[in-house]
Amino acid sequence: MKLNGTAYRSVWTEGDGDVRILDQTKLPWELDILRLRSWEEAAHAIRTMQVRGAPLIGAVAAYGVALAMREDPSRLDEALHTLAETRPTAINLRWALERQRSRLHNLPPAERREAAYAEAAEIADDDAETCRRIGENGLPLLEAIAARKGKVNVLTHCNAGWLATVDWGTALAPIYMAHDKGLDVHVWVDETRPRNQGAALTAFELGGHGVPHTVVADNAGGHLMQHGEVDIVIVGTDRVTRTGDVANKIGTYLKALAAKDNGVPFWVALPHSTLDMEVRDGVAEIPIEERAGSEVTELTGRTADGRIETVRVAAEGSPAANPAFDVTPSRLVTGLITERGRCAANEAALLALYPEKA
Ligand code: MRU
Repeated sequence: MKLNGTAYRSVWTEGDGDVRILDQTKLPWELDILRLRSWEEAAHAIRTMQVRGAPLIGAVAAYGVALAMREDPSRLDEALHTLAETRPTAINLRWALERQRSRLHNLPPAERREAAYAEAAEIADDDAETCRRIGENGLPLLEAIAARKGKVNVLTHCNAGWLATVDWGTALAPIYMAHDKGLDVHVWVDETRPRNQGAALTAFELGGHGVPHTVVADNAGGHLMQHGEVDIVIVGTDRVTRTGDVANKIGTYLKALAAKDNGVPFWVALPHSTLDMEVRDGVAEIPIEERAGSEVTELTGRTADGRIETVRVAAEGSPAANPAFDVTPSRLVTGLITERGRCAANEAALLALYPEKA
């Protein structure tokens, strides 16, 4: 997607083989291109959320393996293990590493470097194309609302745009396409405490593309739905189970409950790499990342004179808990938007779209 007229992907390589990312901890204040020279730097970027968002984490992990194979092709298992440990909830990370493992482990070390770069590039290209198709398959939902009532108000949580994927995004892809087609679409952007992916990243992306949007406090969604201000909720996801349960950024479940209570359709956009057919019960089985309490007790932002500062907002001495994701049971999900089409959030519907995953 474009920023100030320049097309970007969220991860890419250049002739030197080093990996480039946009440092998302600096956004929206600075557009800082970070150069990853080693697999340890790739692991660090994922762990510290310089890159984040399920599909992007997978792509950067795949490039991390390529960096490892460039350095020492005998250290495949070590690189796979270290990269897999960086974040627990998004299944795309393990999916991408498994693709690298199965492509590389039977190759002689001398052939691993080239193959690892090729596999990472395929994963990245596949993600960009997959997300474009998700956009095409989600677009009719917005067109139907526009045909009925003119303006379309979408609510989204966290960041599931191009910054969270390689390009286009998942939840935001249909929105970009609707906007580009001239639909009157407006997005309610949940700020998404504690890391503010909505206020910082989704708002930045939508603004960069000229999509009308309004940032709201995370707790505003229910109120907006009660007053008819939300036509549809579309979110991304970090893992969808065989039965259609959906893990996503903490707070997603509350939005789904409010949507159910108000008769607002609640859609989840995902690529094939986010499906975890080995898990049935999302609440019981999906590991939920627990992050530092300081993300809750503190806030980082830019002062009026341009300094980036972190301040404490919680009472001194109070401890904080910080579960980073929650699971929305499939009964609250209106449907799934995938690159193969839309379907209900249940096993039979998922298997009809993805029979090879049975
Ligand atoms: O902790 P993050 O920022 O990596 O969490 C990201 C999300 O929860 C996204 O909504 C999800 O990964 C979908 S991204 C297409």
